[in-house]
Amino acid sequence: MKVTVVGAGAVGATCADNIARKELCSELVLVDIKEGVAEGKAIDIMQTTTLLGFDTKVVGSTNDYTKTAGTDVAVITSGIPRKPGMTREELIGINAGIVKTVTKSILKHSPNAIIIVISNPMDTMTYLALKESGVPKNRIIGMGGILDSSRFKYYLSTAIGCSANDLQGFVIGGHGDTTMIPLTRLATYQGAPVSNHLDVDALKKVAADTMVGGATLTGLLGTSAWYAPGAAGAALVEAIVRDEKKLFTCCVSLEGEYGQNDICLGVPVVIGKNGWEKIVDYKLNEEEQTAFNKSAEAVRSMNIVLSTLSI
Ligand code: 2OP
Repeated sequence: MKVTVVGAGAVGATCADNIARKELCSELVLVDIKEGVAEGKAIDIMQTTTLLGFDTKVVGSTNDYTKTAGTDVAVITSGIPRKPGMTREELIGINAGIVKTVTKSILKHSPNAIIIVISNPMDTMTYLALKESGVPKNRIIGMGGILDSSRFKYYLSTAIGCSANDLQGFVIGGHGDTTMIPLTRLATYQGAPVSNHLDVDALKKVAADTMVGGATLTGLLGTSAWYAPGAAGAALVEAIVRDEKKLFTCCVSLEGEYGQNDICLGVPVVIGKNGWEKIVDYKLNEEEQTAFNKSAEAVRSMNIVLSTLSI
């Protein structure tokens, strides 16, 4: 398999490093627009092969997509990250043009590629990639919910005092500080409801902390996080290239599912060799469905902003 990661910034390089170490592909191409960055980071990763015991071939390319030809899975991380106090949505003016160009460049050389979108505002960038590419909807996957669900399990684990790996939990809806929906009602600790361990107020705090998990780190770091976003992107690549049929929350095109149409939004989906293969209905209760509809409206308003941009 061949994987391309576009954007050799912190998230893209971390994603590439995870993919290489896990030997998820025989060849990985790291692309960046800034001269030398992708080449340098590719060589740096290659110089860990004897230390970490993997054999993935990682090459770098400065904006030359001919090297990406034949890519099976492409990950788009390019664009600017947010600064403290910014929302992901504020990045749309700069990142939309970049994501449009990158999507076309990938498909020009790899018309059958599955495309994973990480660039923010991710839900709208995924919608952009879907519309610009014209490829079947199952091949366009936004990565946000995997990251948010991992943060959800982190905050649950710190509240309960347990291993995060003993927890199951999903975050659906938009990948925004006010649009994501941690499904606390359905979260479990080794099969039992987490409400056995946390009262309503504690669960509300876990949900609130999860929603601003990215902003919290941006405040601490001065830029967007990269370890968890990079690892989440690699986990999605792994589920595709290994045909794992794994159930993740991913941003995908909805055509009536969860009561929404003509939008890309985070829902539980089965991931395999064909990209996203099935949307799973978690039978939301009235409160959850109301929150989902509100999240959809907020994302839809960003999609309208996108339509006004000349990109
Ligand atoms: C985050 O939440 C970068 O959107 C990503 O950290």
